[in-house]
Amino acid sequence: MKGSIFIALNEMVVEKYGLGTWLDIIDYAGVEGIYTSTQNYDDSELTALVETICLELAAPADQVVRNFGEYLFDYLHKAHPVFANAQPDFFSFIDSIDGVIHVEVHKLDESANTPHISVKKVESDVAILQYQSPRKLCHLAEGLLLGAARLYGINIEISQPKCMHDGEASCELLIRKI
Ligand code: HEM
Repeated sequence: MKGSIFIALNEMVVEKYGLGTWLDIIDYAGVEGIYTSTQNYDDSELTALVETICLELAAPADQVVRNFGEYLFDYLHKAHPVFANAQPDFFSFIDSIDGVIHVEVHKLDESANTPHISVKKVESDVAILQYQSPRKLCHLAEGLLLGAARLYGINIEISQPKCMHDGEASCELLIRKI
């Protein structure tokens, strides 16, 4: 996972809970906690940090990862506003994740590990996003989508009729504008 993702996590924890909490978390997780944005770090380091944050906040992992995803969306959008600026609405934006955004990410950095995402619009206000990744970060995707919905000024609800955490080969995120 890219250092930029860890830097966003570091920023979120410091902003919401203070520097002391972040220092405790990296200490308990047994990681150095210093990141360079373009460098790759082992996925297990993110898992260790998330597990420690869950213990510290007494919160379940899906909730912690989803909240982080929402924060991460703002972080990524601030750094790369061009992607959302190019799309007029939420549904066209999410349609551009796999074929435009993550393609550009790879052009800038060949070693990036992005998930496979495909989006199918099923009704004017409903889409199914299929997610596949060995990192099984579907709850991060949920949070990123919630962050994107907020940017476009809409409310969405997301359910997962299929999830890799239940043994499925890929996740299905059913997204409904409410
Ligand atoms: C709602 C919109 C988006 C969704 C649902 C999404 C989904 C994801 C997910 C779930 C991951 C974690 C890796 C994995 O699951 O295998 C990821 C990684 C990443 N995404 Fe996106 N993404 C979105 C928008 C963006 C935007 C706007 C950018 C801006 C450049 C971006 C850049 C990246 C980068 C740099 C990584 C890390 C790659 C790595 O660690 O090597 N994504 N994305």
